Amino acid sequence: MSRWKEIEDFLELMEKIYARAGVRAAAVSPETGYFLHSLVRLTKPEVIVEIGTHRGVSALWMARALKENLNGHLYTIDIYLQTSMAEAQDLIKSAGLSDFVTFIKAPSVPDGVNYCKKNNLKIDILFIDGNHNLEPCAADLMGFWQYVKQEGLVILHDTKLSSGWRGPHFVMRTIDATIQKEQSFRFIELPVVEGLSIIQKKELPPPKIMPYLVYRLYLIWAELKFVLKGNKSP
Ligand SMILES: C[S@@+](CC[C@H](N)C(=O)[O-])C[C@H]1O[C@@H](n2cnc3c(N)ncnc32)[C@H](O)[C@@H]1O
Repeated sequence: MSRWKEIEDFLELMEKIYARAGVRAAAVSPETGYFLHSLVRLTKPEVIVEIGTHRGVSALWMARALKENLNGHLYTIDIYLQTSMAEAQDLIKSAGLSDFVTFIKAPSVPDGVNYCKKNNLKIDILFIDGNHNLEPCAADLMGFWQYVKQEGLVILHDTKLSSGWRGPHFVMRTIDATIQKEQSFRFIELPVVEGLSIIQKKELPPPKIMPYLVYRLYLIWAELKFVLKGNKSP
């Protein structure tokens, strides 16, 4: 089957899934799902951890991208307040993606965090879409942060008040105070209706806090290294 046909079939499948009664209610929108799929295709993560499986819709978008990447695994955690793990598993199975997903039925904190520790998971993408109240949402970010790789991404869903939720919004607003002490990071809030924020964990402090002269010297050194490698200077 051609690559284009495969994509077409997948989008048709997603359309049918979204048309099912009740599916859209708590799931990511098709646009956000498509974004998650693209992000996984582009960044080629080895490990994705999702907090909040629900019916498995966002898991399906990401797992499908892992299959297309021919690599990577998704660990998805939920206590299944209104849905069942069997339902989510069936959805993933019906799309032929079971090999790419591990379902963990447990509270994200502390059990999900302990799972990461026990299995020595080093997370490339952490997707937080579990309990949307302030304290549990902050606990998710703080609990899993240590298992996110340097340069890894944390995606926080529903960060705009227009999503109807306060937790993710205020976690984003207070993130400086919570993680900036030990770690450097950068964050972008995408201007989508429900709010989708991306945090990237950074190893180095951002250049703006380096003294200006040191930063200039660093740029000259980087340029020199680039040219010495046989590249053309712009
Ligand atoms: C908004 S839904 C997730 C939607 C899903 N990501 C999607 O787009 O298809 C939130 C889910 O978080 C789960 N949840 C709530 N509190 C949790 C906790 N402490 N640990 C794990 N999951 C939790 C709920 O059971 C619910 O299924």
